[in-house]
Amino acid sequence: MLIVIPKEIADGENRVAVIPQTLAALKKAKLDIVVQSGAGARAFISDEAYANAGAVIETDVRAMFAKADVVLKIQPPMQNNDVNCHEVDMLKEGSILISLLDAYSQLDVLKKMAERNITTFGLEFVPRTTRAQSMDVLSSMAAIAGYSAVLESAALLPKYFPMLMTAAGTITPAKVFVIGAGVAGLMAISTAKRLGAVVEAYDTRPVVKEQVESLGAKFVEFDLGTQDAQDKGGYAKAQSEDFYRKQQEQMAAKVATVDVVITTAAIPGKPSPRLITDAMIQQMHTGSVIVDLAAERGGNAEGTVCGQIVEKHGVKLVGYIDYPSRKSVHASQLFSKNISTFLLNMVKDGALNLNMEDEIIKGALVVHEKQIVHPALKPLLEQPQ
Ligand code: NAI
Repeated sequence: MLIVIPKEIADGENRVAVIPQTLAALKKAKLDIVVQSGAGARAFISDEAYANAGAVIETDVRAMFAKADVVLKIQPPMQNNDVNCHEVDMLKEGSILISLLDAYSQLDVLKKMAERNITTFGLEFVPRTTRAQSMDVLSSMAAIAGYSAVLESAALLPKYFPMLMTAAGTITPAKVFVIGAGVAGLMAISTAKRLGAVVEAYDTRPVVKEQVESLGAKFVEFDLGTQDAQDKGGYAKAQSEDFYRKQQEQMAAKVATVDVVITTAAIPGKPSPRLITDAMIQQMHTGSVIVDLAAERGGNAEGTVCGQIVEKHGVKLVGYIDYPSRKSVHASQLFSKNISTFLLNMVKDGALNLNMEDEIIKGALVVHEKQIVHPALKPLLEQPQ
């Protein structure tokens, strides 16, 4: 079975889906590997390193896609302007694609995949279970985002993070407030603590209180009457308008007292809830920083611009979304382990073994036998076009 690792073509994407160190495990499973020339360059990996690890290097993109049984990618398939062709059209009919799919906003691409009978797995749908932990791309990348968000804020804040006792006087520590204590939020908390800040955190899911406290941060509780904060998968549920209004009111007082706010609140497939309003930003000290990790889906803070740093009322709002790509070496290393473990879970004796009883395989399957099959996408498919 031929596994292909193409060069990522999305603007600003520096990662590569598989690194040479992972190839040994794939070769041991009797898989043949082809890597596109230059695929690892922006993660500082040479073609030679891949060749030494047993891969064949290919320069002809179309030929490479045409012969692939399985393509391993990071970004969803897209138009390749170098060869003037969409990646879906280059894939062999009946082949397999494993990547992140950004499925909720890429329905047209998924329909094309179905037409071309490409069995498609979306890594964002890998269930968050103990067995799937080593395949969990979302966690690997969210942790990088949480870490980077703190470093970004520390660089922009016109203050020290730690408390310092110097001959010239005492420096009080920076106050950091993290909203959303999922994977990114918890990593942000631990990074800010390591830098010496005083850290507080809040989440609608009360179950995270203990995790926040175990990292040495204070869990902030608001009286919002949250009953049903998380779904079966552990993800936050969207809440009512009234809930978000109450939340904003109570959060305003907290936000006004801190130097840095890091927001990570996301609801899968939905626009990010608006947690920080313009009026709240106005009450913050000038020079403060908000890093909005939910910038891709509209942001948690009013005025966040995706991909940019902007200033409002003297407060800097950071809307970068490419933290994993900026840490391309470790992001590629983690992604590589995640995607190859996912692939190896469905390979037996060098051939594909698609066991639909396996909750991981079934959970991540998005297109199969010419149909979009993932239940999370059904409501979107049923909407009138
Ligand atoms: P996410 O990126 O979907 O959301 C980030 C955080 O924001 C979540 O903690 C969420 O509760 C919070 N949030 C949403 N709306 C909010 C609001 N209005 N105000 C404040 N906070 C809000 O979360 P992530 O990091 O992807 O984690 C999702 C779930 O998956 C969690 O329960 C996590 O513990 C679980 N998980 C399980 C794993 C496993 O068992 N293998 C691995 C990784 C995550």
